[in-house]
Amino acid sequence: MNLLKKVYDPETFRATGHQLIDMLADHLQACLQDSSGKVIAYKQPDENYTFWAHEKFDSPMDYFNQVKENSIHIHHPRYMGHQVTPPAPLAALAGMEGMLLNSGGAIYEMSAASSTLEKLVIDQLKSYFGFTDGDGIITSGGTLANLTALICARNIKAPEDVWNEGQHEKYAFMVSVEAHYCIDRAVRVMGWGDTGIIKVPVDEQFRMRTDLLKSLHQEATDRGIIILGIVGSAPTTSTGIYDNLTAIGQYCQQHGLWFHIDAAHGGPAAFSQKYNHLTKGCELADSITVDAHKMMMVPSLTTMLFFRNSKDSYRTFAQKAQYLWNASNEEWYNYGKRTMECTKIMLSTRIYALLNTYGIEVFGEYVDTCYDLGKTFAEMLKREPLMELAVAPDSNIVCFRLIHKNESQCNDINRAIRQKILDDGRFYIVQTLLNDNVYLRISIMNPFTSITDLELMLLDVKTTYLELTEKT
Ligand SMILES: Cc1ncc(COP(=O)(O)O)c(C=O)c1O
Repeated sequence: MNLLKKVYDPETFRATGHQLIDMLADHLQACLQDSSGKVIAYKQPDENYTFWAHEKFDSPMDYFNQVKENSIHIHHPRYMGHQVTPPAPLAALAGMEGMLLNSGGAIYEMSAASSTLEKLVIDQLKSYFGFTDGDGIITSGGTLANLTALICARNIKAPEDVWNEGQHEKYAFMVSVEAHYCIDRAVRVMGWGDTGIIKVPVDEQFRMRTDLLKSLHQEATDRGIIILGIVGSAPTTSTGIYDNLTAIGQYCQQHGLWFHIDAAHGGPAAFSQKYNHLTKGCELADSITVDAHKMMMVPSLTTMLFFRNSKDSYRTFAQKAQYLWNASNEEWYNYGKRTMECTKIMLSTRIYALLNTYGIEVFGEYVDTCYDLGKTFAEMLKREPLMELAVAPDSNIVCFRLIHKNESQCNDINRAIRQKILDDGRFYIVQTLLNDNVYLRISIMNPFTSITDLELMLLDVKTTYLELTEKT
C-alpha cells in the first residue's frame, strides 16, 4: 500500500508535472527558435532496442527526457515527413487532462463532458461540409473511421441483413488506385477479399478517373458483384490531390450508391475561405472522415466521422429492425452505440479546447499557411533544372524527384538521397512510388516552416545527389 500511496501522491504529481511542462516548453522553444538542430536522431531498430533495454533512469524526468530525445521532433520546422501535425500546446494540455481524468467512454455517465463536447464539436463543424442535418462521432483514427463508415454503408445499402444473417452476395466499393491502403484493409476486414475493392485508375493529375466509373460498375455487375458505394479521397495520401468529389457524388446519387469521402488529411480545407473550393462536393457525401491529428493541430489520434443523415450514424452497429422500430432509442449521448470503441480516450476535449479558445479561424489559418507553403515549394522546384515535380500540388503535400541522366538509376538515386537525409537527421522527408518512379515527398505540417527551410532542404537534396554520384 505504501507503494501505491507513493504512485498517487498529488505533490509528487504536481512537482513532476511542472518539470515536465518546463521541459516540453523548452523543447518547443528550441524547435521553433532555431531550426539548425536535428529533427531526428535516427538509430536502427535493433540498436534502439539495445539502448532502451540497457538504459537506467535516475528519475522520471530523466526518463521523460530520453523519450523526447529519442523521438522525432514533429514541432521542428524541418520536419516535413508524414502527415502528423505538430500539436498546438493547448490541445496537448487538453489531452493531458483527459489522460488523468480518464473519463471517456461508451456511456454518458462515465463521460459527461467529453460526450457532450463530442456532439458540440460535430454540430459546430458539420455545416462546413454542407450538412444541414447530420451527426457524427469522434473516434481513434482515420483507419477506424473509414472502417466504421464502410460497415455503416454495408448495413444500409446491402440488399440483405448482413449484420444479423451474414452475407450471401458479393459486394464491393469502388475507390481510386491512389486511395489510402486502409480502405483496402477495411474491405478485407469485412470479409470481401480481392473482389471487394475495385480500383479506379487515375488521370495524369492523380485524380480518380470518374469517366471510368460507369464501365467499371457495369463490369462488376456482369461478374455478379454488387457495388455498394464509392470512396473519394480528399486528398490522396501520396500526392495530396483531391478527387473530383462533385462528379463522384453525382454518380452515387444517380445510382443509389453510398458516397464516403476519406478527407482524413484535407477535410479541414473546408474551414479555409481560400481553399474550401477543394472540398466542394462534400455536401453530396453520406459520410466523411476528417482527422484532427493531421490538419487541425490536435494530438493523435483524433478523428471525426460525419454523417449527412443523422440517423445513419446510428446504423453502423445496429440491427436493421432495431433502428427502424425505435428512433427514441438513439440516445446521442451514449456514444458506445455508434463507435467501434467501448472505452474511449477523451478525444473531443482536445478539439474543443482550440475551437473554444481560438475560434474556427485557427483551423483555416493553419490550412492556408501550410497549403500556401506547398504551392511556394512547387514554384521553387520549377526553377530547378535537376528536379521534376510530380504534379502541381492541391495541398501541402509535394512530390518531386531528382532526374539523373541515366533514367534507369533514377529510383536508386532518389532512394539513396532520402536514406542519407534520414541518417543525417537535419531534415525529415519521405518517399513514395508514383507510376513506378520513386519520388521524394514532403508534407509541410509545420506552419513555421520557412522559405529558407525549404531552400536549405532542396540544397541538401542536391548536395547529397552530387556526393552520391561523384562516388559512382
Ligand atoms: C487519406 C488518408 N486516409 C486515412 C489515413 C489513415 O489515418 P490514421 O492514421 O488516422 O488511421 C491516412 C493516413 O495518412 C490518410 O492519409
